[in-house]
Amino acid sequence: VTLSGKTILILGGGTIGAGWAACFAAAGARTLVCDPDPAAAGRLAEIQNKAHPVLQALGLPSEQDSAPEIIPGLADLNAPVDFVVEALPERMALKTAALAALEDVIPADTVIASSSSGLSVSDMQTGMRHPDRLVIGHPCNPPYLMPVVELVGGAATAPWALDRAAAIFQALGKRVLRLNRELPGHLVNRLQAALWREAVHLAAEGVASVGDIEAAITKGLGPRWAVVGPTEIFHLAGGPGGIAKFFDDLGDEVERWWESLGDPRLDSATRAILTEGMAASKPPEELAAHRDAMVPRVIAAADPDAYPLKSKPQ
Ligand SMILES: NC(=O)c1ccc[n+]([C@@H]2O[C@H](COP(=O)([O-])OP(=O)(O)OC[C@H]3O[C@@H](n4cnc5c(N)ncnc54)[C@H](O)[C@@H]3O)[C@@H](O)[C@H]2O)c1
Repeated sequence: VTLSGKTILILGGGTIGAGWAACFAAAGARTLVCDPDPAAAGRLAEIQNKAHPVLQALGLPSEQDSAPEIIPGLADLNAPVDFVVEALPERMALKTAALAALEDVIPADTVIASSSSGLSVSDMQTGMRHPDRLVIGHPCNPPYLMPVVELVGGAATAPWALDRAAAIFQALGKRVLRLNRELPGHLVNRLQAALWREAVHLAAEGVASVGDIEAAITKGLGPRWAVVGPTEIFHLAGGPGGIAKFFDDLGDEVERWWESLGDPRLDSATRAILTEGMAASKPPEELAAHRDAMVPRVIAAADPDAYPLKSKPQ
């Protein structure tokens, strides 16, 4: 699948919709962003400016880069659409109303990929005339930077719709993670939530400073995780005997660690500790710019094939 010559419609031009738009435009697609907010065009241009150097650093084509276009409503749609990304606010009633209006103006077999982080795709499908074409295609934020998209269907999703969505996301250079069933938070956010639960517990209990807990990830686990996954790490810990040796040596010990893991609440005292910890950090804009500058270098260094690199990262 090539995206050149294809028309992609994105519903919602906020953080995620505008981020998706930058990816699709850079991959050569004609990209239409439907958003009635008069401020959407400004936001889109701002995110486009942030995304451009990141996409270049990732080696995605820039010569074909055509700016996404804003349309205020579906009545302004003037071209056949090949694929739809839904990136509307996380509200079920709003999404289902928008899907109903969308089904009036696109063919029955045009795939729609919802970016929803937490809503059930099966619930979203209940009012649809052609629910078989709805999938979840969940990006990590920002979509122009992170290589994975989580793909999952609902009760009524057809396998062909999942396959077509996977092919489109792969043409963007994404690594598609397929889930065999719906689960709140999909894969990435569930894993993140599991780790963050323990990070919050350790901060709330005063085991270490928020800064040291952050560094345990950015300097401890993070660099290794860009290259080896969490089970592979223990496979390596077993030496030539691999994970079987690790289970023999430390399997029972790991279960004891699991039993001691915390179950914190985000109560006001805990929030205060974390808020104070973040106050010692840089302002969010500065941190986001640092992330956008550095993560493409980590991605390219850890896996030069992570994106279909047309040119080497600078
Ligand atoms: N923010 C994240 O980190 C993140 C990450 C992954 C997935 N998501 C998911 O992506 C989706 C969008 O989240 P977001 O953070 O971009 O939200 P957002 O509030 O930044 O953007 C939503 C956009 O939709 C527009 N909109 C509202 N009603 C509309 C309508 N009827 N038609 C067209 N546009 C309309 C708004 O004007 C706004 O620009 C949500 O489902 C969310 O769960 C968010």
